[in-house]
Amino acid sequence: MTSIIEDPDGATPLDPDELEGLKFKHITTRGQLNEVEQINVQNGLMWLRRKRKTQILSEEFARELHRRLFGEIWRWAGEFRQTEKSIGIDPIYIGVQIKVVLDDAAYWAEHGTFSPIEAAARLHHRLVQIHCFPNRNGCHARIMADTYLKECFSHPPIDWAAGHDLMRSNERRDAYIAALRSADTYDYNPLLVFMGARTND
Ligand SMILES: Nc1ncnc2c1ncn2[C@@H]1O[C@H](COP(=O)(O)OP(=O)(O)OP(=O)(O)O)[C@@H](O)[C@H]1O
Ligand SMILES: [Mg+2]
Repeated sequence: MTSIIEDPDGATPLDPDELEGLKFKHITTRGQLNEVEQINVQNGLMWLRRKRKTQILSEEFARELHRRLFGEIWRWAGEFRQTEKSIGIDPIYIGVQIKVVLDDAAYWAEHGTFSPIEAAARLHHRLVQIHCFPNRNGCHARIMADTYLKECFSHPPIDWAAGHDLMRSNERRDAYIAALRSADTYDYNPLLVFMGARTND
């Protein structure tokens, strides 16, 4: 029974496009999907905390992380996108472009080109711009940025959601998308503010 306190988003049926690659056919609503995805993401984060030191700025790690975060639910987890999307580059360039951005990020860390948060912001933005995977790029790129901060700068993670649900429509989500759009035009300031950088960071 649908009640007015039931989250309307949670009750929304998934469309055929969204169902593509879903491993559990009994999942039919957004609410059910969110629940199982949350568990998968938690398992992925646990894997990340426990894993031995590794080269995180590699295609292999980026793909493995995506698979660990979403692979219990989605068949396409960890596999590069093969079709065009409204966001992202032509899929044939993904393999080359991810290498470019990860190599750049290694250089920034080694040479102190940017403050830790600016380096993480630039990595995050370039990853979502490439849009490597069919879906869950935002979440993956936020965790990549946090992992980069930790491993390369011994810096604490970003408080991306700041008390909101970043995956749903709200002020925080709007500010996030607007900040990414500014970064598209090479103005990183809104993204730096969003990620909590102070002027002297
Ligand atoms: N103009 C835009 N509109 C929406 N998302 C954008 C835009 N530009 C960049 N993005 C990024 O793409 C992500 C959405 O892509 P995708 O659906 O693959 O990721 P997701 O992890 O499923 O989504 P979310 O981050 O909303 O949980 C956003 O989170 C954001 O990081
Ligand atoms: Mg999505």
